[in-house]
Amino acid sequence: MPLLERRFTIKANDFVKAGEVSIEVQGILKKIGFDPTLVRRVSICAYEAEMNVVMHGGDGEMMLHVEPEEIDLVCSDQGGGIEDIELALLPGYSTARPEHQEMGFGAGMGLPNIKKNASSLDVYSRKGEGTRLIMKFEVGDEH
Ligand SMILES: Nc1ncnc2c1ncn2[C@@H]1O[C@H](COP(=O)(O)OP(=O)(O)O)[C@@H](O)[C@H]1O
Ligand SMILES: [Mg+2]
Repeated sequence: MPLLERRFTIKANDFVKAGEVSIEVQGILKKIGFDPTLVRRVSICAYEAEMNVVMHGGDGEMMLHVEPEEIDLVCSDQGGGIEDIELALLPGYSTARPEHQEMGFGAGMGLPNIKKNASSLDVYSRKGEGTRLIMKFEVGDEH
C-alpha cells in the first residue's frame, strides 16, 4: 500500500506557474517528515523535470508515489520527444531557444542533475511521441 499518491498537471510554456509542482512535492515530503537531504534531492529532480516539460515538452503531468522505502516521480509529456537520449543526457547539451536562455535556462545540466540526484533514472522518449522520465529514490540511501 503506498503511503501517498498525487498527480500534478504541467502546462507547456507557462512560465508563471513553472516550478509550482516541485514546490508542492517538496512541501508534501517535508510534511511527511523525510530526511531534508532526501527531500532536497527529490525537489531538484522534480524541478528540472518540470522545467523541461514547460520548455522543451508539451502539456504533461508529474506523478508522485510515496512508500516508506521508496519515493517515485514519473514525469510525462505529450511534446515533441527527444531524438537522441544519450546526447540529451550529456552535461552541457541543450536545445534551449534564445528566449529561454535570456531567462537563464539552457545550461544543459537538467538531465545530468537528475541522474546525479536520483537513485535511478529511466528516460523513455521518441521523436514526436512525447517523453517520460521515471525517477526513483531509495529512502535511507545516503547519495
Ligand atoms: N521533456 C522533454 N521534451 C523534449 N526534449 C527534452 C525534454 N527534456 C529534455 N529534452 C532535451 O534534452 C536537452 C537537455 O535537457 P537538460 O539537461 O535539462 O538541459 P536544458 O533544459 O538546459 O536544455 C534539452 O535541451 C532538450 O533538447
Ligand atoms: Mg532542463
